[in-house]
Amino acid sequence: MTTSVLFVCLGNICRSPTAEAVFRARAAAAGLDVVADSAGTSDWHIGNPPYGPAIAAGAARGYDLRPLRARQVTSADFDRFDHIIAMDTQNRADIEALRPTGSETPVTLCLSHADGVGLTDVPDPYYTRDFEEALDLIEAATDGLIAQLRQNVSAVSPKDR
Ligand code: 4NP
Repeated sequence: MTTSVLFVCLGNICRSPTAEAVFRARAAAAGLDVVADSAGTSDWHIGNPPYGPAIAAGAARGYDLRPLRARQVTSADFDRFDHIIAMDTQNRADIEALRPTGSETPVTLCLSHADGVGLTDVPDPYYTRDFEEALDLIEAATDGLIAQLRQNVSAVSPKDR
């Protein structure tokens, strides 16, 4: 069973492409079958690669962000993904404004998947310049998410696995 996850931030050049790459790598290492993507609530960077310092910080931990290109989130993403994950509360509100009538796709905050980090939003390293903090938080959240997805997988009957 493949689970599809869309990570969303404002520009789609710092936090959400980082989360996409981290989640893809760590899910693969955990043997979990996933499809990962990312998008921005804004149209500011459509078609652009991730921000250079985000690429560099990710590369230092073994994550390759270079192939990724920014796009804008749309209402069609509610049908295309099992989970949509927002980097901050403003992102979540902007995503919810696109929800098609009747769609039950969960939109959750990234850090709701991390235990005990004491933050609601992933601080935007485009402004804070703290790319290590963003990576630390995103690694914790993706590990939590992977653990939650594994539990859901093991909740289905063996024949469905
Ligand atoms: P992100 O960070 O939402 O994590 O990709 C930002 C990147 C660019 C801008 C804002 C936030 N910007 O203003 O261009």
